[in-house]
Amino acid sequence: MRIAVFGLGFVGLTTALGFADKGFTVCGYDINKERCAEISCGKVPFFEPGMDDALARNFGKAFTIADSAIDAAYKSDICFFCVGTPGLPDGSADLSYMLFAIDSVLEIVSKDCVLVVKSTIPPGTLNERVTPHVRAKGVYNPVAVNPEFLREGKCWEDFMNPDRIVCGVSDDTAKDVLAELYKPFSAPLHIVEPNTAEFIKYLSNSLLASLISYSNEMALLADAVGDIDTARAFRILHEDRRLAGAGINTYIYPGCGYGGYCLPKDTAALDAVARNRGFIPRILEGVISLNNEMPERTARKIARVAGEKTEKIGILGLSFKPGSDDVRDSPAAKIIAALIQEGYINIYTYDPLAMREFQNTYRLPITYCTSAQEVCETCDTVALVTAWEEFKGIDRVFPDTCFVDCRYFLGNEVVI
Ligand SMILES: NC(=O)c1ccc[n+]([C@@H]2O[C@H](COP(=O)([O-])OP(=O)(O)OC[C@H]3O[C@@H](n4cnc5c(N)ncnc54)[C@H](O)[C@@H]3O)[C@@H](O)[C@H]2O)c1
Repeated sequence: MRIAVFGLGFVGLTTALGFADKGFTVCGYDINKERCAEISCGKVPFFEPGMDDALARNFGKAFTIADSAIDAAYKSDICFFCVGTPGLPDGSADLSYMLFAIDSVLEIVSKDCVLVVKSTIPPGTLNERVTPHVRAKGVYNPVAVNPEFLREGKCWEDFMNPDRIVCGVSDDTAKDVLAELYKPFSAPLHIVEPNTAEFIKYLSNSLLASLISYSNEMALLADAVGDIDTARAFRILHEDRRLAGAGINTYIYPGCGYGGYCLPKDTAALDAVARNRGFIPRILEGVISLNNEMPERTARKIARVAGEKTEKIGILGLSFKPGSDDVRDSPAAKIIAALIQEGYINIYTYDPLAMREFQNTYRLPITYCTSAQEVCETCDTVALVTAWEEFKGIDRVFPDTCFVDCRYFLGNEVVI
């Protein structure tokens, strides 16, 4: 089976290499020529363990890159669209990149080629927007949706060993092709209606966001009461037999708000879908508004400790989560911007992986240090904003520094 993949970002490149590793012939295309050139030189454009090896194993063999969308789609049995679906100002998903990518292949695809949207699209989108858009152009190919659940920092591991595979189809051709494609994966394959498939993805992301906002609200409540060891309280909560050992615990923990490419835009898009249909999602609304407040609240907490505007403030961690160099919608950027707005002009930062990406993306007037140690030696107040393992215990190395532990992550717990 010949597969074409459009968009070679976190999801697209992982998808392309994953299917290539499973023995399929895959041709990828990205509109960003620099990205294509980088991948063609054997370099994965972002930090993802396992992907460099997968690229080295497959490039020029099972996986190639085309110079145009038409070349990539030529003679394909299936086209995966993995382009971005960012948020519009009203929160709804911007489908323009995806529709443009689909349009770019319509004139060339053979009539049985299955067009599969792997990007995250809100419930109702395939049936109400994508399929009518394609049909209006006189194209009657099978159209399907196949949401992706991989986590950044674990893209390869999650794609190759998924816990579930969800495909939303409306016809037998799409169903048969996707069932054949996913045969080499040992995960439950759920073939459902398109709306259900789309909804499952948002069900997952809005639950994760809700757990984070719940935890943040509880931590703020604990602050209001006072004399509560919040970090310890949460760790003891995790011992509940119903939660113990579950990966979900990493989401049931306070911090400075969820960020990254997915949770903020996906919660906003689901909220927009609900409102457009006349339903007010009260819990989701609270989850989003609390999250929107978190960077400002965190900046105020840091400013209270720092005091004078001339104080040097250190920010440890710039990526939206540890183990990734992705800085999209990173809480660190919003916290730093809020501090600058407040008049703090001496800000020193360090991140083990994301410095270059952060610098290129945000262009903030801050100083980039070469190590966490340098930040702590320079600043009297240091805020820990991303919970990188290597920052653990730094408070013991610099006992005279005031640490603002925005991730409830420093300090020793004594279990008696
Ligand atoms: N990042 C994640 O962890 C994750 C997880 C699950 C689902 N998703 C969803 O997958 C989709 C892609 O996310 P991502 O993080 O991989 O995005 P990304 O920004 O890393 O990659 C998107 C790529 O698409 C390319 N592109 C845009 N228009 C194109 C076109 N017309 N033809 C070819 N390429 C084009 C861009 O240049 C870019 O390289 C989004 O809908 C996202 O919500 C992301």
